[in-house]
Amino acid sequence: MDRLFTPLRIGALELPSRVIMAPMTRSRADNDGVPLDYVADFYVQRASAGLMLTEAIYVSPMAKGYVRTPGLTNDAQQAAWAWIVKAVHAAGGRIFAQLFHTGRVALPDFLPGGAQPVAPSAIAIKGQNKTDDGKKDFVVPRALETDEIPGVVAEFASAAKRAMAAGFDGVEIHAASGYLIHQFLDSTINLRDDAYGGSVENRCRFLLEVIDGVTMAVGAARTGIKVSPRIKFNDVVEPDASDVYPYLSRALSSHGLAYLHGAKQSDYDVHAQMRQHYKGLYAAGGGFNRDSAEAILASGGADAVVFGKPFIANPDLPRRMRDGVALAEPDFATIYSGSERGYIDYPAAD
Ligand SMILES: Cc1cc2nc3c(=O)[nH]c(=O)nc-3n(C[C@H](O)[C@H](O)[C@H](O)COP(=O)(O)O)c2cc1C
Repeated sequence: MDRLFTPLRIGALELPSRVIMAPMTRSRADNDGVPLDYVADFYVQRASAGLMLTEAIYVSPMAKGYVRTPGLTNDAQQAAWAWIVKAVHAAGGRIFAQLFHTGRVALPDFLPGGAQPVAPSAIAIKGQNKTDDGKKDFVVPRALETDEIPGVVAEFASAAKRAMAAGFDGVEIHAASGYLIHQFLDSTINLRDDAYGGSVENRCRFLLEVIDGVTMAVGAARTGIKVSPRIKFNDVVEPDASDVYPYLSRALSSHGLAYLHGAKQSDYDVHAQMRQHYKGLYAAGGGFNRDSAEAILASGGADAVVFGKPFIANPDLPRRMRDGVALAEPDFATIYSGSERGYIDYPAAD
């Protein structure tokens, strides 16, 4: 029995399958954070997914962390997304906007007036980020003042409202991959001594305030959230992940969210932990193929499965998995290359 291809209700939305396309940054926006016209083709080609999650979209000018990534902070960006969403809906698809603030991953090069990036604490990431002038070292961020935090929460809520105005079916809050929300969760990155640092409860406070702000703005049934405990990226360590994530899962259970999305990208057994502690719809991601996806659905370990890399070169991934058609391999050289090549030129199997 193919459980992957059975329908699933998420809030008001009826998904035709449990195949979700993972959020994937592809750097096909202009320098003002407006997605390029052909981004619509990318999502339309993949509209047979039960649900698509967009590439991460920055929620404010201070939240941008990479060259040529898109935002949802002004009317021009919103209008471009509205056009993309309209095309996806016309093609019969469903799509959530993934919203993020990159915090200390940003470089001054991407921020208004060359501003210093913000973070829970003034600790730089080791290593470098790409700019149009070559790679540059990450910088020491400025620790957010306690009284600035409600303003950042409001930026998430405002971007979520813009997403709904653009016609998206919902939003996914990006609390993964070592970006701002994740930075608050990690005791090696968050050294604050106010109500947002220290105990597990305090480090989870910012995330829960963002969820409150966004669900008040657009409704819990249209709000999902992604986590990736202990991911080896952006200097995430999370020595006490086994305390943080069960607490978070229980705290999120009462919110009536669309779903919780857990990406397994480390030794942390995120799927088992989330399933045990989270009462609500759970979407499992990270390294799945058709067989492992069927297995986790069959065992009751998840309600839906999220596929990332397999969707890059297989726009018709659901059909290929259902019919056992061989999968194409992506060309990793063109992943972030900023043109139509390696983006919208992967054909469907027929
Ligand atoms: C090119 C690329 C870009 C990604 N960008 C994002 C992103 O914008 N937001 C996010 O939450 N995860 C991002 N991820 C992580 C994926 O969403 C997913 O969690 C990860 O690739 C594991 O799933 P997979 O093994 O099915 O690819 C990205 C992954 C890839 C390969």
